[in-house]
Amino acid sequence: MTATLIDGKAFAAGLRARIATEVAALKARGITPGLAVVLVGADPASQVYVRSKGKQTLEVGMNSFEHRLPAETPEAELLALIERLNADPAVNGILVQLPLPGHMNEAAVINAIAPEKDVDGFHILNVGRLATGQKAMVPCTPLGCLMLLRDRLGSLSGKRAVVIGRSNIVGKPMAQLLLRDSATVTIAHSRTADLPALCREADILVAAVGRPLFVGGDWIRPGATVVDVGINRTDDGLVGDVDFEAARKVAGAITPVPGGVGPMTIACLLANTLTATARANG
Ligand code: GUN
Repeated sequence: MTATLIDGKAFAAGLRARIATEVAALKARGITPGLAVVLVGADPASQVYVRSKGKQTLEVGMNSFEHRLPAETPEAELLALIERLNADPAVNGILVQLPLPGHMNEAAVINAIAPEKDVDGFHILNVGRLATGQKAMVPCTPLGCLMLLRDRLGSLSGKRAVVIGRSNIVGKPMAQLLLRDSATVTIAHSRTADLPALCREADILVAAVGRPLFVGGDWIRPGATVVDVGINRTDDGLVGDVDFEAARKVAGAITPVPGGVGPMTIACLLANTLTATARANG
């Protein structure tokens, strides 16, 4: 069997087109959604992401506000900027690019963002709302994975899902979203005993460990749906957390790297910004 490829690039393009239509309708009412992105320091990967976010924000017709601060900026100065953005009615979404320089308290910075403008879904109130089934801003990468899974599988109810990785950005919110859709969810991580055997139980396998080609083909249940969140730069180019060539011979469907989950993240950021704008305008 050869797995169906889950085309995240095409799905994300469709999502952005739907967002652009809704942005146009809001603009006709005199409302232009605005996304502020804050980058502290000059981390090369972060610079690439921030540039991409700005470009795609403008492409769907939203306003993009970029704030670049030097790495040595005092935390108080960043908090003051966030305060201004919180109070600015032209700004509907605020994203502070992570990681922050070592002298900053990441949690304090994230929790300074107004929860209703927290388009990353990292504020402690949004984390708690998601965990308790209340209306929340949902982190973009797991939201993108969920959309691809629903598109592929329809209902996720009763499916056995294994999420490898327990990060606050992907693993934990991914598990919450799968649970919300009534999947039976296991979160696995570096200390999980007999990880390959656990993964072989999974109808849905989400890999978010950040280790190139970590998941072998023999870890995959025949016919399973595999979502690879990994983006690892190696001498052989960009590879995921899953050994794609081996996995595609066993899985029912699989996301490629690149072109799978990656493009969904920014599309979902724009979707969250649209949601925040709609909520701010009744
Ligand atoms: N750094 C890596 N991924 C992310 C993300 O999803 N949001 C933010 N703010 N920073 C990141």
